[in-house]
Amino acid sequence: MSEVTLPGELRRLLDLGLGGSGPIVFLTGAGISAESGIPTFRGEEGYWTVGSRHYRPEELATSSAFRAMPEEVWSWYLYRRGVCRRADPNPAHRALVDLEHGFHERLVVITQNVDGLHLRAGSTPQLTYQIHGNLDFMRFDDSGDRTPTEIPPEIDQDWERGRRVRASERELLSREGTLGRPHVLWFDEHYDEHLFRFESSLSTAAEASLLVVVGTSGVTNLPLQVAGQALRRNVPFVVLNRDEDTSFAELAHRAPRGHFERGPAGELVPAVTEYMMTHGLDRLA
Ligand code: APR
Repeated sequence: MSEVTLPGELRRLLDLGLGGSGPIVFLTGAGISAESGIPTFRGEEGYWTVGSRHYRPEELATSSAFRAMPEEVWSWYLYRRGVCRRADPNPAHRALVDLEHGFHERLVVITQNVDGLHLRAGSTPQLTYQIHGNLDFMRFDDSGDRTPTEIPPEIDQDWERGRRVRASERELLSREGTLGRPHVLWFDEHYDEHLFRFESSLSTAAEASLLVVVGTSGVTNLPLQVAGQALRRNVPFVVLNRDEDTSFAELAHRAPRGHFERGPAGELVPAVTEYMMTHGLDRLA
């Protein structure tokens, strides 16, 4: 039972959304995984040193960096994979799994996170749009088959910071002599449907009855388009975030049916989903 009491305005918007017949969409970002101990790599810990040079994530997470120094980029991703594998889903991830058990395919989670925690919590892959990819997977695009495949479990999950890729590991990450690449959308690449559910995200948002945005600063393109789809139709737009200085919080304040609720995802998401389960299941269209 959640101790958090939701304000009347928020409850009213949830009731309004539940009363519709369209999808219920949760759009999540790094903030939903923060309480699992996964850093957003934007602070000091985000720098990655190659030789004597420090790189920021947005410099390493590019196809040009991968072409220039593939094994250094792999080393960074395998380190992050280890950080994510050692983290556990938190009450916010689990609350969305409970909600899916109640609402089934009416619930869609669109996540920017590549940590795989929604799936590890139990969310159904077909209802979880990982629009920036997943660190546990890799691809061999040059082979013509772009289907993501799991990174071999033999690859060390306790990858210490700065450790280089060994020859045996390079072999595990290769197919017919060609080194694969992490299945993550890089800053100099584009969304698509096959790998990142681009059109599905927009079409789902275009029919949504309710959009709940959790733990994201709103700096990337597709999430803002998803929000735009809902706002244009005056759909209830709820933002749950630890900090208020985000573009989504501002959109919520300006929207006639918007609401911003400040707090940790680990408390707010379970409170919201509990309310939806208690007040919404009898309305399943
Ligand atoms: N509960 C709720 N919100 C939180 C919590 C928490 N415990 N901790 C942090 N937040 C909020 C922060 O206030 C911030 O607004 O989560 C948001 C995280 O924002 P970012 O770090 O910018 O992460 P995100 O919005 O997911 O980044 C989007 O940009 O770096 C690229 O592709 C990468 O997917 C990423 C995208």
